[in-house]
Amino acid sequence: MDTSKLMFKDGLMAGERILVTGGGTGLGKEMAEGFLKLGAEVHICGRRGGVCQETADELMGKHGGKVVPHACDIRVGEAITDMNDKIWAEHGPLTGLINNAAGNFISRTEDLSVRGFDAIANIVFRGTFYMTHDIGTRWIKEGLRGNVTSILTTWIWNGGPFVVPSSMSKAAVNTMMQSLATEWGRYGLRFNSIAPGPFPTEGMSKRLAPDADGAKRMDSGGANPMGRVGEMHELVNLAVFLMGPGAEYVNGQTIAIDGAMYNATGGNFYQLTQWGDEEWKAARDSIEATNAKDRSQRTV
Ligand code: HXC
Ligand code: NAP
Repeated sequence: MDTSKLMFKDGLMAGERILVTGGGTGLGKEMAEGFLKLGAEVHICGRRGGVCQETADELMGKHGGKVVPHACDIRVGEAITDMNDKIWAEHGPLTGLINNAAGNFISRTEDLSVRGFDAIANIVFRGTFYMTHDIGTRWIKEGLRGNVTSILTTWIWNGGPFVVPSSMSKAAVNTMMQSLATEWGRYGLRFNSIAPGPFPTEGMSKRLAPDADGAKRMDSGGANPMGRVGEMHELVNLAVFLMGPGAEYVNGQTIAIDGAMYNATGGNFYQLTQWGDEEWKAARDSIEATNAKDRSQRTV
């Protein structure tokens, strides 16, 4: 990311201590960099401990400050509690949480097994709740203010053909965020969400656009009203607006950042109805190779 395009003043986030789940890669890494650059202490977690460590080293090398990596699988409630106990004891209470970790792949729904569904729902639907619940409960018990942003998708509003487990799970997280904004607002906690359109990352592109035409499809083949995919600083500026001080009255909202793509085209994978068995087999082979490579790097 070009940090000169951040719209906020240096030091804005001094005193914040923010956990970004899935912060070792992709959008999570970009948000972690933005928060760090603006003065926050940042914690990042993922199953590939080495990837989180490398990201922490890289970001601190660039900007100084403090980025703490954690190997943690958010599907496991006890692992979340252990990590948060450690953060509280060794660093102090978090002030903010970004629910960014997710799993996804394109598949015809009729080709999904129960395990395939669970592989996604256990991360997005269950893991996001476990994390939000663990941290929210600490804030309430300790009388602390807290702030959560979840990274969703625009499919929460119009459905996600060929990514049904992700679409269902993200819609459920949206409901969780709206519910907690109203239930826990009285404790000084707030809950907002960002629904990004396409911001190409390796993790997303290899699983949602594994074919030769995939990159073109990401902005609806040039049909995005803005004529392009998103730029990282645009997403990070929105995340800082929600997570930094000054916008405390914003609570229970979900903001799309997609160049108006879902309004114009639906912003989903409806075009894949054109694919036959051959295309789906090639996509699955390619996605499973990516999954296997990533799995081999997991340390938890
Ligand atoms: C059908 C598939 C499949 C595919 C895996 N499975 N890939 N089924 N089509 N392409 C099935 C497997 O066959 C298996 O079921 C089950 O899923 C579990 O597979 P594993 O590889 O063992 O799972 P696991 O190691 O737990 O990996 C989880 C994962 C993986 C979700 C499958 O992709 C992952 O770790 N992803 C993390 C990063 C990620 O996905 N980033 C992208 C986020 S992008 P069987 O029954 O065969 O055993 C995103 C963008 C949204 O969300 C918006 C864009 C605009
Ligand atoms: P990514 O780089 O693959 O990010 C996903 C991250 O989640 C990885 O760092 C992964 O790390 C982590 N993760 C997955 N399962 C986990 C688990 N069980 N425990 C802990 N961490 C886990 O993909 P991305 O594109 O940046 O996606 C980030 C977020 O943005 C996701 O919520 C995605 O749905 C959302 N999003 C992305 C786009 C886009 O265009 N890129 C658009 C809309 C929404 P490990 O594998 O090491 O665990």
